[in-house]
Amino acid sequence: MALQDGIGGEQAVTSGDMSAWDAIRSRRNVRQYSRARVSAEDLDQILEAARRSPSSQNSQPWDFIAVTGDDELRRLADVWFGGRHIASSAATIALITAADDAKAGRVQFDLGQAAMSIMLAAAGLGIGSCHSAVGDQDLARQLLGYPADKTCDLLISLGYPAGRPLTPISVPDRRPFDEVVHRNRW
Ligand SMILES: Cc1cc2nc3c(=O)[nH]c(=O)nc-3n(C[C@H](O)[C@H](O)[C@H](O)COP(=O)(O)O)c2cc1C
Repeated sequence: MALQDGIGGEQAVTSGDMSAWDAIRSRRNVRQYSRARVSAEDLDQILEAARRSPSSQNSQPWDFIAVTGDDELRRLADVWFGGRHIASSAATIALITAADDAKAGRVQFDLGQAAMSIMLAAAGLGIGSCHSAVGDQDLARQLLGYPADKTCDLLISLGYPAGRPLTPISVPDRRPFDEVVHRNRW
């Protein structure tokens, strides 16, 4: 089997029993959600995946705020024009870090790993996810109530996709395998 697009085809994967490989191939940014709720158990599993993420020197420079109220989600959607999908999400997780740390590459890398853990854990449960940046920091702080020495640079919304469920994507919108992969040397 060639290590290329389309391994395993595009069969729908039953929610909750995906392999890691299926979750990797199925994850995509989902911006339109059905009205189905994400169970408290599934949301906790996704948050636990975030908590277990690796970080530089195991510093764990994060806190996570899980927002689930419809009114809270609608208001949170106003923090960034690219975050409108938050309003119809079933839940959105805010990734919080120390304001002093936020610009450090090390912390951004750690947050990126936590973000990917969240998204893959969600995909493994058949739950879609989408990033959003935060434009209006004052509004985000007012809505989420984190302390003045903390900041929120990333929100990840969650919800079951409206329409097409998560299935392994045969031909992802990515640069070709042979262009990005180099063996032994460039
Ligand atoms: C750091 C970062 C910030 C992003 N911010 C937003 C955002 O504010 N709004 C949005 O709709 N998508 C956002 N995205 C999602 C990207 O646009 C998306 O990952 C990319 O288009 C690839 O899409 P796919 O994951 O569905 O293949 C962000 C992604 C990353 C990694």
